[in-house]
Amino acid sequence: MSSDPQGGLIKRTWRRLRSPSARFSVLTLLIVGVVIGFVGTAGTQVMVAVTGTDKFCGTSCHSMQWVAKEHLASSHSANRTGVRAGCHDCHIPHEYPQLLWYKAKAGTKDIIGEMRGVMDTEEKFKAKRKEMAEHVWAEYKGNDSRACRHCHQFSKEVIAKQKEMVQPIHTMVLQGQGTCIDCHQGIAHTPPS
Ligand code: HEC
Ligand code: HEC
Ligand code: HEC
Repeated sequence: MSSDPQGGLIKRTWRRLRSPSARFSVLTLLIVGVVIGFVGTAGTQVMVAVTGTDKFCGTSCHSMQWVAKEHLASSHSANRTGVRAGCHDCHIPHEYPQLLWYKAKAGTKDIIGEMRGVMDTEEKFKAKRKEMAEHVWAEYKGNDSRACRHCHQFSKEVIAKQKEMVQPIHTMVLQGQGTCIDCHQGIAHTPPS
């Protein structure tokens, strides 16, 4: 038999958590729950928005400044029509909950890399560049260039408006042969040499 009939602190707390509340009505508890849920959801959305801008992704870390500069000069940033593709459009999934999971994983890896100074000089960046690009290519290959297709939705009508020489090629893509990244590498950054 234990000398403390109430059990340890953890046991007591657990018992209290499990027993029905005598002090608060179900309605109060429900409202508190809804408020916490709302604040949590809104807070997550704010974090996703704040950490999802090109300014945040391109300038917060030393390691990203070189790709960010190239992106600004590419046709996905500076073009005739002003429709832009930002870092997030090409590098983060659009669907929930994958978006949160991916951001948490990639963000943690990037922060640790930044703190360790893995790519704090252009030389170090250049040395790692090929490996990183290969990682992105493999990802695109694995998901059938999902990010590209989010904006570029091919159909017979769309292809008919494209340059004549590319129409037979893209018709094959429409029929399921090949994926965007097979042929279009280096569309936002200088491809690694
Ligand atoms: C956020 C939307 C968006 C995403 C995502 C996107 N694009 Fe684009 N892309 C555009 C727009 C808009 C243009 C047209 C720019 C212009 O006005 O010239 C364009 C132009 C292009 C062009 C022709 C311009 C050139 O540089 O010759 C190619 C090729 C292209 N995209 C390929 C891709 C590929 C491959 C991907 C995926 C890695 C991708 N795009 C992702 C919006 C997007
Ligand atoms: C088998 C190779 C191949 C694949 C796969 C491919 N393309 Fe292309 N694409 C080309 C070539 C070649 C051109 C013409 C190159 C140029 O204009 O500089 C082109 C041109 C383009 C253009 C410009 C069209 C125009 O009329 O100006 C866009 C946009 C584009 N591709 C997007 C995509 C997207 C998005 C995908 C995936 C859904 C894709 N391509 C898949 C080979 C390919
Ligand atoms: C239109 C789509 C697109 C946009 C916009 C884009 N990227 Fe990329 N990014 C790619 C692709 C595709 C690769 C794979 C290498 C290649 O083909 O250039 C890549 C590669 C990278 C790499 C690996 C190193 C390298 O040079 O290959 C980093 C880091 C990167 N991007 C960061 C960013 C950041 C930061 C932004 C915003 C400032 C951004 N990207 C915007 C499509 C994009």
